[in-house]
Amino acid sequence: MLRSAKDLRDLRKSINQKIDYNQPRITVCGGTGCRAYSCEKVIAAFKDNLAQLGLTDKIRLLVSGCHGFCELGPLVVIGPQGIFYNRITPEDTKEIIEETIQKGNIIDRLLYKDPATGNKIVYEKDIPFYKGQKRIVLKNNGHIDPTSIEDYIAFNGFASLSKCLFELSPEDIIKEVIDSCLRGRGGGGFPTGLKWKFTSESKADQKYVVCNADEGDPGAYMDRSIMEGNPFAVIEGMTIAARAIGSSKGYVYIRAEYPLAVHHLNLALKSTREHNLLGEDILGSGFSFDIAISKGSGAFVCGEETALIMSIEGREGTPKPKPPFPAQKGLWGKPTLINNVETYANIPIIMDRGATWFTSFGTEGSKGTKVFSLVGKINNTGLVEVPMGTTLRQIIFDIGGGIPNNKKFKAVQTGGPSGGCLPEQLLDLTIDFDKLTEVGSMMGSGGMIVMDENTCMVDVARYFLTFLQDESCGKCVPCREGITQMLSIVTRFTKGQGTMEDLQLLRELAPNIKSSALCALGQTSANPVLATLRYFEHEYLAHIQDKRCPAKVCKALIKYGIDPEKCIGCTKCARQCPEGAISGEKKAVHTINESKCIRCGICFQSCPKHAVWVE
Ligand SMILES: Cc1cc2nc3c(=O)[nH]c(=O)nc-3n(C[C@H](O)[C@H](O)[C@H](O)COP(=O)(O)O)c2cc1C
Ligand code: SF4
Ligand code: SF4
Ligand code: SF4
Ligand code: FES
Repeated sequence: MLRSAKDLRDLRKSINQKIDYNQPRITVCGGTGCRAYSCEKVIAAFKDNLAQLGLTDKIRLLVSGCHGFCELGPLVVIGPQGIFYNRITPEDTKEIIEETIQKGNIIDRLLYKDPATGNKIVYEKDIPFYKGQKRIVLKNNGHIDPTSIEDYIAFNGFASLSKCLFELSPEDIIKEVIDSCLRGRGGGGFPTGLKWKFTSESKADQKYVVCNADEGDPGAYMDRSIMEGNPFAVIEGMTIAARAIGSSKGYVYIRAEYPLAVHHLNLALKSTREHNLLGEDILGSGFSFDIAISKGSGAFVCGEETALIMSIEGREGTPKPKPPFPAQKGLWGKPTLINNVETYANIPIIMDRGATWFTSFGTEGSKGTKVFSLVGKINNTGLVEVPMGTTLRQIIFDIGGGIPNNKKFKAVQTGGPSGGCLPEQLLDLTIDFDKLTEVGSMMGSGGMIVMDENTCMVDVARYFLTFLQDESCGKCVPCREGITQMLSIVTRFTKGQGTMEDLQLLRELAPNIKSSALCALGQTSANPVLATLRYFEHEYLAHIQDKRCPAKVCKALIKYGIDPEKCIGCTKCARQCPEGAISGEKKAVHTINESKCIRCGICFQSCPKHAVWVE
C-alpha cells in the first residue's frame, strides 16, 4: 500500500535493487500471435528444464507481451545480450539453456535469417524489422511481464502519475498535452489536449474517462497488443486524464473477443488498486479514481463514440447525432472523455519526457509515433511503431521486408474499411494524418494491408463494402440503403455485368451518402470505392468495358485451361479438382471441361509444370 510519492519512489528503488539486469534472462513472447504458435508449451518446457537443472532462481523466465514480429513466433529473446531466436519448439528449450545461456554458444538454426541477404542475425536490435522502428509506446512490451506491477514500476511506471498528482495542476497537465500536439490514435486524429480541455471545462457533479478498446478494423491489433503487453500504461494514462478533467470513474470498453487483453487488464487493475495507485485517495493525494471494464460483443459500429456510450449504458449500440459531443454530454448524460488505447498509452511518456521531447519527432501536423499493424502480402507481418513522417516505402520494404515470392507491390490499404488503397506511385509519401487524407485515404487506427499484383482492386472495394454493409447499424437510410446500392453495383462489375451508367451512379451516390449519413461509418463508406477509382480506374474500365479482370481474380471473368505443350499427364490436377472438371489419361494431356469448372484455381496452384493457365 503506497501512501505517498516517496513510498512509490522507495518501492521503485527497492525493486531495482533486487533486479540484477546482468542476470541471464529468457524472455518468451506470450502475446496472442505467439500463443497461436503454442508458446505456452515453450514456456512450460523452459520452466521444467530450469527446474530440472536447478536454475529456477538463477535465470529469470519472463513471459512478455507482443514483440511485434508475430509471424516468427514463438519468439524467445535471451538477455542481457538480446539474442533473438524464432520459431522455438519445446524441444529447443533445453539446448537454449545449456548452450546459449550456460556456454555462450549461439544456436545457428534458431536465428533469424534475413530473406533479403540470406544472412543470419544474432541480436534483436540488428534485425531490419526492428532497426527502422522508433518504439515509444511499444518500448516496454518485450521487456516487462504484463501481469507484474513491479516490472512496470521498475521501468519508471506511475512516475508520471505521481508527478501529475503532486507537482502539476490539472491545467498544467492539459497544457503539456496540448503542447505535445498529440492527436487521437483511434482514427479521427482530433487533438487530444483540446478534447481534455473541453471536457475539463464542462461543469458537472460527475465526469467519466473512457478508453476505447473496441478495435474493430479487420487486420488491426495494435490496441490489443498494448493492452496485453503493457496494460499499466493505459491505466496510468487514464488516471492522469481523470486528474486533468476532474473525473472519479473510468471505463475501458473492450471487445469480449480479446480474452487475454481482458485478463491482463483485470489483473493490472487489481494490482494497481492494491498498491493504492487506483481507487480512493491515490498515493495519499486526496484524488480518487477507479476503472471498470465494460465488454462489447464485437460490433464494429460500437467503436464509434456515441454508440460506445450507449453500449456501456446497456442500451443498443447505435450512434447518436453530434453535437452534443461526449465532452459535453456523454455517459449517462455527463461529460465524458473518450480516447483510444494508444492515445492513453502515449500520455505517461509525454508527462515523463515532456512535450518538447515528444514534438521533436513527427511532422508539422502530426507528432510522435504511430503503431501500425502490417498485414497482407508482406514478408514481415507484424506490429511496427515508426515516427510520423516515415514513408510507406520504408515501412513496407525496409521494415516489412517487401512482397513475398518476388511479386510486385500493387497497393496498400490504410485507415481500415473506410480508408483507401494507395498505389505504387505514392510509396514515397511521408505518412501522417493530413498527408493520408490529402491522397484520399486515412490514418484510421493504423491497420495497413499490403496487396500484391494478384489483387483485383474492384474486388477489394467489394470486400470492404461487404464488411461495411454487414456492420452498418441500419439506423439511417443513406448508410443502410446507400451501402447496399454501392455494393450491388460493384458486385455487378465483378461479374462483368456493370455499365458506364453504373459507374456514373456510383460517383453520384458517394458524396450524397457522405453528406447525409449519421455517423462516420456511413459518411466514409464510399471511400473504398472512391480511392480505388481514383488510382485504379483502368481496372474498373476493364471490368465494365472489356469484361476482363486484369488481376485474374473475379471468377465470372476468368477461365482456366491447360497448355498441351507443358502438360505431362501427371493427373495431379484432375485428382484435386473438386468438380471433376478435368479429364485425361495418365501420361496424356489433360483438358478442362469449362461448363463444370467453378474457377476455384486449385488446378492452377497444384500443377507442378505450370501447365494450367488462367486468363
Ligand atoms: C464506425 C467507427 C468505428 C470506430 N472504432 C473505433 C475503435 O475501435 N477504436 C477507437 O479508438 N476509435 C474508434 N472510432 C473513433 C471513435 O469514435 C473516437 O473518435 C475515438 O475513440 C476517439 O479517441 P482518440 O481521440 O484518442 O482517437 C470509430 C469510429 C467509427 C465511426
Ligand atoms: S451511418 Fe450507418 S452505422 Fe452510422 S448511424 Fe447511420 S446506419 Fe448506423
Ligand atoms: S497437374 Fe499439370 S501436368 Fe499434371 S496433368 Fe494437370 S495440367 Fe498436366
Ligand atoms: S479451377 Fe477448380 S474447378 Fe476449375 S478445373 Fe481447376 S480445379 Fe477444377
Ligand atoms: S505475439 Fe509474439 S511477437 Fe507478436
